[in-house]
Amino acid sequence: MEFTTILFDQKDDIGIITLNRPDVLNALNKTFFDDLNSCLDQLGDLALKSLIITGKGKAFAAGADISEMAGMNQAEAYSFSKRGQAVFNRVEDLVMPVIAAVNGYALGGGCELAMACDIRIAAKSARFGQPEVNLGLIPGFAGTQRLVRHIGLSNAMYYLLTADQIHSDEALQLGLVQKVCEDEELMDVTFKITEKIVSKGPQAVVKIKKVAVEGTITDFDTGSERESEEFKSLFGNEGTEGMKAFLEKRKPEW
Ligand code: COA
Repeated sequence: MEFTTILFDQKDDIGIITLNRPDVLNALNKTFFDDLNSCLDQLGDLALKSLIITGKGKAFAAGADISEMAGMNQAEAYSFSKRGQAVFNRVEDLVMPVIAAVNGYALGGGCELAMACDIRIAAKSARFGQPEVNLGLIPGFAGTQRLVRHIGLSNAMYYLLTADQIHSDEALQLGLVQKVCEDEELMDVTFKITEKIVSKGPQAVVKIKKVAVEGTITDFDTGSERESEEFKSLFGNEGTEGMKAFLEKRKPEW
């Protein structure tokens, strides 16, 4: 797979997307959304079990490309926002778990992309934030929605309204990231965590993601019913092998 603004790589059954416009801190332009969308289209053919998203250079992504946005009229801004939301929703909706390995700045659209992933691993130097208000703008790629879901309304209001950057240690306290590591260890740590996930029951992994993500947009009872259905589906199936392997004191054969 070849793209202008991203690189795609694969290590065994783990895919790696690297944002690749380091000269502009991986600012997200229209071509980026086309590239990411097209990359997501092609992932289905690869039988991947997980996907890592990271950035080349000193940033994960410093937000939407301001030089491109500055020339947009309202109709163009609306469709840019809808496009960004749709492509990031596709990341969230991927069957496989998606892990963001966040190096440096994850601001604006960068933070929004990281939040569309299932898990965020941050380098110590990572800085998250939604600085749009500094430009007289608001987030356009679902940042107002996902930040609230990740860190709660009051915390999200604080960071959306002040545009303060969230340092990696604060992000960990807020639950926005799940691990912080030394900068130079970011990819090693991310791979170890991803490999751990990939070693688990493959159908169970997919179903946990599906039920948990769907549960954020349905009511508790609907989500619980979906959980029971998916729980049931693993019996006479992968779950039976997992339980049998436990009782026979051996590794499961998924
Ligand atoms: N869009 C377009 N270009 C961007 C960009 C963005 N969101 N963020 C950074 N760049 C470009 C800069 O213009 C600069 O280009 P140049 O070398 O041609 O001047 C280059 O990336 C390096 O950025 P620079 O500002 O020099 O780096 P820094 O280390 O001093 O500061 C930031 C880093 C992230 C604090 C700063 O770039 C910034 O505030 N970026 C905008 C963040 C933002 O508002 N994002 C939300 C957009 S809606």
